[in-house]
Amino acid sequence: RLPEPFTVPLPIPPVLRPSGSGVHEITQRVARVEILPGLRTEVWGYNGIFPGPTIVSRRGGETVVRHRNELPEAVVVHLHGGRTPAEHDGYPTDLVDPGAARDYVYPLDQPAATLWYHDHRMDHTGPHVYKGLAGFHLVHDDEEDALPLPKGDRDVPLMIADRSFAEDGSLIYPDVHSDYISGVLGDCVLVNGAPWPVMEVTATRYRFRVLNASNARRYRLALDPPPPGGASFVQVGSDLGLLAAPVTHTELQIAQAERFDVVIDFSAYPVGQNVTLKNLFGRDGTADVMRFVVARKAPDASRVPDRLAEIRPLRPSEAVVERTFTFQRGGAKKHGMTLWTVNGREFTPDHIAATPKLGTVERWRFRAQNVPHPVHIHLAPFQVLDPGPYAGGWKDTVDLGSGDQAEVLLRFDGYRGKYVFHCHNLEHEDMMMMANFRVV
Ligand code: C2O
Ligand code: CU
Repeated sequence: RLPEPFTVPLPIPPVLRPSGSGVHEITQRVARVEILPGLRTEVWGYNGIFPGPTIVSRRGGETVVRHRNELPEAVVVHLHGGRTPAEHDGYPTDLVDPGAARDYVYPLDQPAATLWYHDHRMDHTGPHVYKGLAGFHLVHDDEEDALPLPKGDRDVPLMIADRSFAEDGSLIYPDVHSDYISGVLGDCVLVNGAPWPVMEVTATRYRFRVLNASNARRYRLALDPPPPGGASFVQVGSDLGLLAAPVTHTELQIAQAERFDVVIDFSAYPVGQNVTLKNLFGRDGTADVMRFVVARKAPDASRVPDRLAEIRPLRPSEAVVERTFTFQRGGAKKHGMTLWTVNGREFTPDHIAATPKLGTVERWRFRAQNVPHPVHIHLAPFQVLDPGPYAGGWKDTVDLGSGDQAEVLLRFDGYRGKYVFHCHNLEHEDMMMMANFRVV
């Protein structure tokens, strides 16, 4: 039933062209698609495909996305990483009912970045995303355009997500009453919706926008073999855009919802070399992600410059308020299960956990008890204090290991209103590990 790894070609999600009136139209519907060769899998897809179509915007170029819901359940769309007014941010109870349509308006007054859109319905995000409701939304700007980074078909989005399949090819998502302690994990790794795909590359540099869209799995990515005498990954961007300067890695640790924008230089390998992208956290099938085959030489005018983007570092002295949030198990129960909570409270739409002032910087400390939690904050970009190797630049998600804590400096600007922050382990999120802040 599962294919031999590295036999299915890597798909690239199609770019969505706006209609004559400039609106990007998406119909959310049930579709039967071929994920495993020779079998049909029922998915819930944006335009019936998984991943959904890629939306491409310019910085400050207001983008309207009209979502029509032809699915059997209500949905919510959130643009993850978007600097979006509250009424268009996809609040978890701001539903688009079956048969209804709604325009989401995104000002996108923010630097070039790899954003993504996905379902965000309260209590249902895990199963909805698992069924396929996720896609890329790229923002470009002049600063990025001026850089000599790889472009065109050498700028490739990679959405990594694990899934489990039944014998007939259908997706297996366990019953909500079963144990969600670690979230839902699959035994098959998909990239852009294909199982352990293979991509033919030229012996040149490529830019990959790596997104971990898995519900609950984190990855530690490495190239096998590593390039002789070189760095495997040159990171040029983080969740919310380009870094100030490139950072080299031999391994990349990526939690749910994080994005790493990296350049891999395949000219370091001989023509004919197979290069496997491994997951050092995985076992058996989840130890492999995909494979590159270096097919031939080709001209390459790209390079990675020493300076990438202007990033103003936030300083702790700018913070006007400090807050602490503990992500833990306990406090409340549902279906007889102990819930995941923030500061011991389950999510409700009306409890406001913080009221930052528009135009200020705050310092938030997150603590993770029991198990790891990738913490994601809507609207407000942040910088991590002591970022370690993986958390530099402007971020919207910070990964916490079990028992760890992280401190971040957040900039609240753009819009007033009510937004959420939550664990991006989607089963933890559905089991109430979410809270509200209101920018006032
Ligand atoms: Cu990626 Cu609140 O979501
Ligand atoms: Cu969590």
